[in-house]
Parts: sequence; structure tokens; C-alpha cells
Amino acid sequence: MTRLWPLGLALGLGAVALWLLPAPADEPLSPLAALGRQIFHDPSLSASGQQSCASCHRAEFGHASAHGIENGGPHMQSVGLRNVPSIRYLQTRHALGFDKEGKASGGFFWDGRAGSLETQAAEPLLNPLEMANRDADEVVKKLSQATYAKEFAALNGQNIWQHPGQAFAAMTQALAAYQREDPDLQRFDSRFDRVMQGRATFSAAEERGWALFKDTEKGNCAACHTAEPAADGSPPLFTDHSYDNLGVPRHPHLPTAVRDADFDLGLCRNTQLASRPGIGDMCGAFKVPSLRNVAVRQAFFHNASMTDLREVLAFYATRDTDPARWYGRGPAFNDVPTKHRRNVNRSEVPYGQKPGEQPRLNEQEIDDLLAFLRTLTDADLADSVAKPRGATAAPAVAARAGQPVANPKAANSL
Ligand code: HEC
Ligand code: HEC
Repeated sequence: MTRLWPLGLALGLGAVALWLLPAPADEPLSPLAALGRQIFHDPSLSASGQQSCASCHRAEFGHASAHGIENGGPHMQSVGLRNVPSIRYLQTRHALGFDKEGKASGGFFWDGRAGSLETQAAEPLLNPLEMANRDADEVVKKLSQATYAKEFAALNGQNIWQHPGQAFAAMTQALAAYQREDPDLQRFDSRFDRVMQGRATFSAAEERGWALFKDTEKGNCAACHTAEPAADGSPPLFTDHSYDNLGVPRHPHLPTAVRDADFDLGLCRNTQLASRPGIGDMCGAFKVPSLRNVAVRQAFFHNASMTDLREVLAFYATRDTDPARWYGRGPAFNDVPTKHRRNVNRSEVPYGQKPGEQPRLNEQEIDDLLAFLRTLTDADLADSVAKPRGATAAPAVAARAGQPVANPKAANSL
């Protein structure tokens, strides 16, 4: 497509209109990926018979969820523990690793515990809060009765059903192939991409937001949400795949199932890291999410504690200058147990100011950043961008003000 761009220029406006169409799905999926697509959309693989991967990773929300935290389980009444992330743009994600300075990056899930899309795919089918199958054998039995069972056997061997372990592994390979190959999961056709290719221009507000996003004294967002092309020239994913502890507020309306549970400690609860020196410093750190398609989402952060993107930006700007706005009268960082609060990032811009100081971003600049983030929306989702709720995030703040830490006992015991 990019190779043809000079031709588009030469043909003038008529050709330009062509470029604005969504990227065509011209590469057919491999048979394995096509099988994976069917598995991804098949609710008969869940204990409830009502839930597929696609029920939580919904295409119209950028393959994330509408509400953030979803129900699942055998009767669809079990409440999940974390926000459903988007599964777009995972093609190049690598397994969790550490650089020379000991900085973690990579891995799937908010805590990086799965090393590949294949390993990841095994979990939701067996998670009692999600698709809730008893074991792999139960999943394989359902696969052998699925509408695509013949295709599954044609690809994996006619006697595959006699080897449930192999069949289960083949299923995870198909799901991974689908997520790697489907062009809809890596479109790179947002307005941002078109601007970078010289095929569109930013509005004045978007341009100012883009500058604030990169300005190391203002938003400094690009320090973690990478905005430069990768080493191979591929467009930025708006994450460096690292982990950080932002001290996000506790969910203001915790579902009963979560209310009395332990605090979610993120990276340091990744069991593969149990014996790693300095693991305590990683408690409360979560994966930096991609910001592509963030404007179509309606729940933010690993705990889905915010439901308005503008509120998220206001949090970055005023977490340290006006902590009461986010944590009420209680202690700051109320979703991190007391003994781990020192892990919260207080040194990097946009943080590090004292209560009462001027925020680094004023209301106008927050609006500009919001305008910029909305340019990161893939062309197929342009109509789903959530309507901004205006400058006052009053309802959520009112709900949170004075809200005690949901379970102070748990806070002390961790
Ligand atoms: C009940 C809702 C639900 C269902 C059903 C579900 N997921 Fe997820 N998915 C989640 C949640 C929540 C997370 C984050 C969990 C965590 O970090 O611990 C997640 C994470 C992921 C990730 C990791 C994304 C990242 O950025 O690291 C992938 C990939 C994924 N799911 C694919 C699938 C596949 C494939 C299926 C079907 C086999 C599936 N999901 C079914 C809710 C769901
Ligand atoms: C020091 C690293 C860092 C910096 C700087 C940073 N972020 Fe983040 N961002 C994160 C991490 C980590 C998360 C996830 C935190 C969590 O869920 O606990 C996150 C989450 C988000 C989310 C929620 C996305 C979702 O899908 O839930 C948005 C929106 C966001 N950041 C925007 C920004 C903007 C805009 C800036 C600049 C003002 C910025 N970030 C600066 C690390 C950073």
C-alpha cells in the first residue's frame, strides 16, 4: 500500500479518497488462523454456553470490553478481577524480560505472566471467572462437537480427538495465529497514521496535544507510551511494553467479589518472578497499555477505576497537586497496600509536584491532549469514539470523595 502512495499523489484527489478507505483485508488468513477466528467467536466452548473470546474482546470497542470488568463463569454471574485489555496490536509483543538496569518489559496480561499468545490463550477457557471449563479435556470435548470440528481434524490429524493434550495445544496455536494474522487487529489506519504518512493534517488542538504528549516538561506521555516508530520502521504502538506503578485510585464501586479480595499487586504477583531480587519494588506495577483506540474505551486502568478519558488525563495532571480530588480524605494511592506505596512513581513528569502547586497541564492543555488521543482511533472505529463528558468530572469525584479504602484490614495485612 505504501509503495503505491506516489501513484496516489500523481492521480490527485480521486486517488486520495481511496487511501481514506480502511485497509483492505487483501491477505487471506492461513487455514490455521481462519480456524482460530472461528474458535475465537464460539460461545459453545464456555461452561455457560454464552461466552466466547469475542464477548469480552469486542470488535466495536477496539477488541476490548464495553464496561471494563466483565462477568463470566458457569452462570455468567462471576465478576472478573481486571479491566479487559484490547487485543489489537499484539503481533510484535515479546515475552517478559529484563534489561541491564533490571527494568521489566514484555509479556501478556497486565502482569506479563503469559510469554506468548499461545500460552495466553489457554487461560480464559479454564479461568473459573471467565469461560470456566473444568479442564482441558472438557474444552477438547466441546471442540470435537463444534461446527468446525472437521476443519480442526483436517488440519491437525484425523485422530487428534484421541489426544486431548495435543488438541488443546493446537487450539491455542490457532487462536494465536488468528490474532497475529487478522489485518483488522493491526490496521495502522488511524488519523494519526495518515498524518504521519503526510496524507492528512492535525487540527490546531490535535497538533498542540501531540506536542504536549512528547514534551518532557509537560505531558511526558511518550516516555512510556512510545510515539516514535520501532527500530524496523513500523509505526509506534504507544507503549514501550514496560511496567509502572501509577497509584491509580481504588475502584469507586467495587463489585462484591472484589471488595474483600486482596489488593491487586500486579507484576510482583507474577509467579515466575517469585525468587527475583527486588521483587517487592514491582508490587503495584502494571503493564503500560497501548493508547491506540483508547478513545473508544469506556473504562481505564487495570482496575477500570475510571470511566471517562478526560478524567484519566486530569488524574495525570493533578494526582500530586490535588490528591484529595482522587483519594478523598483518606491516604493517597489507596489501591496500593501501605507498605508498597513507596513504589508509586513520584519522580517522573507529569508527577513530582507538591499539593497546591500548579498542575503541569491546565484545562485547555488537557482538552488538547484529549483531541490528540482521539486521532489514535482505527478507521473502522471512527464512529465509536466515546462522547467527551465535558470539563467537570464531578460525578466520579463525588462518588470517590471520602470513600474509605475498601478493606483497610487487607491494606495492613499485605
Ligand atoms: C470474561 C471476559 C474474557 C474472556 C471470555 C476472554 N478474555 Fe482475554 N482478557 C480478559 C481480561 C480481564 C484480561 C486481562 C487479565 C489479566 O491481566 O490478568 C484479558 C487478557 C487477554 C490478552 C492479553 C492482552 C495483553 O495486552 O496482554 C489476550 C491476548 C486475550 N485476553 C485473548 C483472549 C482469548 C484468545 C480469549 C478466548 C480464548 C479470551 N481472551 C477470552 C477478559 C476476557
Ligand atoms: C512513567 C510511565 C507513564 C507515563 C509518563 C504516562 N503513562 Fe499512561 N500509563 C502508564 C501505565 C503503567 C498505565 C497502566 C496503569 C494501571 O493500569 O495501573 C497507563 C495507563 C494510561 C491510560 C489508560 C489506558 C487504558 O487502556 O486503560 C491512558 C489513557 C494513559 N495512560 C495516558 C497517558 C497520557 C496522556 C500520559 C501523559 C500525560 C501518560 N499516560 C503518561 C504509564 C505511563
